[in-house]
Amino acid sequence: MNISLLSILIIFYSLCLHYGIAINNITLSQSINDPETLSSNGFTLGFLSPPNSTNRYVGIWYMTESTVVWLANRNQPLRDSLGSFAISEDGNLVVMNGTKKVIWSSNVSNIATNSTCQLLDSGNLVLMDSAGDKVWESFKNPTDTLLPNMKITNNNKSGEKVELTSWKSPSDPSIGSFSLSIEPLNIPEGFIWNKTVAYWRTGPWTGDVFLGIPMMNSSYLNGYRLDYEEDGTVFLTYSYSNESYLAVFVLDWQGKFEQRFWDHEKKEWQVGWKAQSSECDVYGICGPFGICSVESSPICTCLEGFEPSNTEEWNSNNWTNGCVNRRTKLQCESAKTQNGSVNSKEDGFEKLEMIKVPEVTAFSWLKTEDSCRSQCMENCTCIAYSFDEEVGCMTWINNLTDMQQFSSGGSNLYIRLANSELSINDNEKDSKTTIITITVTVIVGTIIIVTCAYFLWKRSARKRKRDEFSRFNRGETIVVNTSDMKIEEQSEMELQELLLFDTETLSVATNNFDLSNKLGQGGFGPVYKGKLKDGKEIAVKRLSKASGQGLEEFMNEVVVISKLQHRNLVRLLGCCREGDEKMLIYEYMANKSLDKFVFGPPEHKFLDWGKRFNIIEGIARGLLYLHRDSRLRIIHRDLKASNILLDEELNPKISDFGLARIFGGHRDEANTARVVGTYGYMAPEYAMEGLFSEKSDVFSFGVLLLEIVSGKKNSSFYNNEESQSLLGFAWNLWNEENIVSIIDEGIYEGMKERDILRCVHIGLLCVQESARDRPNMATVISMLNSEIVNLPQPKQPAFIERNNIINSLSSEECLVLFSNNIVTLTNIQGR
Ligand SMILES: *[C@@H]1O[C@H](CO)[C@@H](O)[C@H](O)[C@H]1NC(C)=O
Ligand SMILES: *[C@@H]1O[C@H](CO)[C@@H](O)[C@H](O)[C@H]1NC(C)=O
Ligand SMILES: *[C@@H]1O[C@H](CO)[C@@H](O)[C@H](O)[C@H]1NC(C)=O
Ligand SMILES: *[C@@H]1O[C@H](CO)[C@@H](O)[C@H](O)[C@H]1NC(C)=O
Ligand SMILES: *[C@@H]1O[C@H](CO)[C@@H](O)[C@H](O)[C@H]1NC(C)=O
Ligand SMILES: *[C@@H]1O[C@H](CO)[C@@H](O)[C@H](O)[C@H]1NC(C)=O
Ligand SMILES: *[C@@H]1O[C@H](CO)[C@@H](O)[C@H](O)[C@H]1NC(C)=O
Ligand SMILES: *[C@@H]1O[C@H](CO)[C@@H](O)[C@H](O)[C@H]1NC(C)=O
Ligand SMILES: *[C@@H]1O[C@H](CO)[C@@H](O)[C@H](O)[C@H]1NC(C)=O
Ligand SMILES: *[C@@H]1O[C@H](CO)[C@@H](O)[C@H](O)[C@H]1NC(C)=O
Ligand SMILES: *[C@@H]1O[C@H](CO)[C@@H](O)[C@H](O)[C@H]1NC(C)=O
Ligand SMILES: *[C@@H]1O[C@H](CO)[C@@H](O)[C@H](O)[C@H]1NC(C)=O
Repeated sequence: MNISLLSILIIFYSLCLHYGIAINNITLSQSINDPETLSSNGFTLGFLSPPNSTNRYVGIWYMTESTVVWLANRNQPLRDSLGSFAISEDGNLVVMNGTKKVIWSSNVSNIATNSTCQLLDSGNLVLMDSAGDKVWESFKNPTDTLLPNMKITNNNKSGEKVELTSWKSPSDPSIGSFSLSIEPLNIPEGFIWNKTVAYWRTGPWTGDVFLGIPMMNSSYLNGYRLDYEEDGTVFLTYSYSNESYLAVFVLDWQGKFEQRFWDHEKKEWQVGWKAQSSECDVYGICGPFGICSVESSPICTCLEGFEPSNTEEWNSNNWTNGCVNRRTKLQCESAKTQNGSVNSKEDGFEKLEMIKVPEVTAFSWLKTEDSCRSQCMENCTCIAYSFDEEVGCMTWINNLTDMQQFSSGGSNLYIRLANSELSINDNEKDSKTTIITITVTVIVGTIIIVTCAYFLWKRSARKRKRDEFSRFNRGETIVVNTSDMKIEEQSEMELQELLLFDTETLSVATNNFDLSNKLGQGGFGPVYKGKLKDGKEIAVKRLSKASGQGLEEFMNEVVVISKLQHRNLVRLLGCCREGDEKMLIYEYMANKSLDKFVFGPPEHKFLDWGKRFNIIEGIARGLLYLHRDSRLRIIHRDLKASNILLDEELNPKISDFGLARIFGGHRDEANTARVVGTYGYMAPEYAMEGLFSEKSDVFSFGVLLLEIVSGKKNSSFYNNEESQSLLGFAWNLWNEENIVSIIDEGIYEGMKERDILRCVHIGLLCVQESARDRPNMATVISMLNSEIVNLPQPKQPAFIERNNIINSLSSEECLVLFSNNIVTLTNIQGR
């Protein structure tokens, strides 16, 4: 009897938790009188007095009465403790004084019928009409505290705004002079205002982080979102689902904005991040064209090429009027006034690094830094630009205000200057541009011709000897052979740390590269199983010879890549280079590759959902390490099931990472000379334009995830009439609200359905057409761990219909030289 009652209670309680419904509501007939309270999940609604004040206010606090997260009658205090909080006859929430006079009201007009009010677990106080629709909520009428899932919004059409407003003083909660809002600029930013004067800004939003908050860098994992609603309202929100602490943001009475965590053990608040940590964080402290750095003294300096507009003031540390450029006119301006002869050299750009950039006056979706630069160069009103992979091309036409020099993070900012103002290096470079261009063209031309000839000769000679290596040569025309180059001493030292194998040893270990030892054929060459004399098993990747790299560069890359170590990456044990032969030696993985398990019939059932989820998560962690945590920011570019190896405990390990570096040579080119990858896993922007970024790996990850969950190979859809691809298939099911049927029957478990579907949802988010819409790996991991609870709706994935361009490629041809990339390649060589 007791037990069953208890279990009913437990079920009831967990249901309540589950739906976020507290057992805390008032209806028309009830009211709360001072000092009664309602509470829910640590939040309490009741009457309180701020420190050093006898006024009473109706408010919500968390854990202790001193941490007030919301107040009703902040501007209309109760003078005594006879007040009450109730729903009035017109359906509104009201605060009444001792003589039942309404002093505060939620002031919603025309509430249809009898309304009720609840304090939810999230700390949100909602007023619902009898149909259960929210007609008013405290989350849309905040005071000075931002709680998880609350939205700061701004609609510049209707002028509707939800913003935080500070208290007047610690003992007076009425509206003070500071507010925090989100501004719908070209690229939205958060601002703190002192009345109408800007006091602090976040910097432009990149889609993941704010550029002006260095601490909020890419390794920041906490569900922040800034986005548009359909009606054009821009909103900022964040979610936290770590049950063990609550994190809130507070705008205090002095305009300071900080994050606080509730420490359950010590029962107190801990301060996390602070928006204003130095004087430099005060908006525009150095005036126009001034730049602030905490490390210099005085903190303000003028930009290169600029000088104080009032030297006396400036020297007495009054920087309000900032700096001007009155030294040399820009060439583009002189040309405009037909005075071009005075200074006829073309303007240039001075590069500043790790900068908090000013408010963006214009931006465009240019994909490369070069196009951004030339767009700015072409228009004389453009005085600066900055390029960010996630944002695009930002340009400025007005005063540059509120710049800060960071010691980490921030962006590169390029300032337009007259040629003579540029620092020596740039200047010389520019003045010699023509000569250099000609010389480079001639030299490069010669090198290309000579090396091509040499290469072709060598290739034909080699072809007679061994057929195998010529297989991957297609498309590669410009190869600089530098095998005679000496390896620098330093890297020779580093090589000592890495095991160097000789061809002899490897030949013996693999039984002279016998076909029976061949484990597979990767994009860069065949892989053989080998056994060293001491019995240790290894995998040997024999690189095809199409590598566009010299020996020295090859060795450098190998050393660098061998330093990447993570439990979800296959370890590189060593390498071998002898003559033309280049081989990489990896640890051997007993359980082969993932495709055999997921798609192969006998082992099919072997991987249940738990194991599959573990694999998905492991791959995500490995990728995140490659993208973010390792110093190198490696983009894999060929992630697929056959590149995921499994160890004895079925932990996934990513293989073949970094090979694009070994093969590409051009480290930071976002526009690759050669598209490496496998049809079906390649992101659209990569397959068609050769543009790669972390987000193209995210795309491949999404495809892989859907394959793992569905047990279906993406390529198995090639000849399917109904859907042209796995993505199309999944998207159709999603729209038919029948996504459950994508789940591999072998792993379906009723209990786990929600988790599995959540994974599918994440997969769909990863394969969205626009790279910008796809989450990054950090966010993917937060989503997988349910740190981010509410997933956005996925947009249509890429390749629903098979694209004609792609279609015309056979799947064999995974190494492709696209025509527009030949142009890029030429550019690279010409620099
Ligand atoms: C609170 O509201 C819920 C849902 O509207 C209702 O089921 C419940 O009975 C109410 N509780 C009280 C104490 O009024
Ligand atoms: C309250 O008043 C006392 C005495 O005037 C003062 O020391 C204290 O700092 C005040 N507290 C607050 C929060 O203002
Ligand atoms: C309630 O408010 C009314 C109007 O502001 C005022 O006249 C009245 O004295 C107040 N009653 C109490 C008990 O404060
Ligand atoms: C209540 O709303 C009306 C219009 O909807 C407005 O005129 C009035 O000022 C509001 N009152 C308060 C106290 O906000
Ligand atoms: C509101 O609730 C009261 C009491 O439950 C009921 O008498 C009244 O008819 C309801 N009013 C409406 C408009 O539903
Ligand atoms: C609202 O914002 C958009 C985008 O930034 C802008 O194009 C538009 O002019 C703005 N409208 C108003 C009324 O400010
Ligand atoms: C806010 O502005 C007022 C004047 O409007 C000024 O006195 C005050 O110092 C400013 N506060 C801060 C923190 O800048
Ligand atoms: C990110 O921010 C953290 C904390 O400020 C810092 O320790 C870390 O070095 C930063 N990472 C990068 C890549 O800037
Ligand atoms: C929540 O935070 C605590 C304390 O920082 C940490 O120990 C715990 O691992 C976190 N839990 C989750 C699920 O992230
Ligand atoms: C700084 O200069 C401005 C403009 O010349 C002046 O209005 C202001 O009072 C000065 N500020 C200080 C602190 O001297
Ligand atoms: C230059 O930029 C300004 C501001 O963005 C724009 O109004 C103007 O039309 C541009 N001029 C040209 C020639 O593109
Ligand atoms: C730029 O700054 C100067 C000096 O403070 C000011 O006179 C001018 O109005 C500003 N121009 C713009 C467009 O903000």
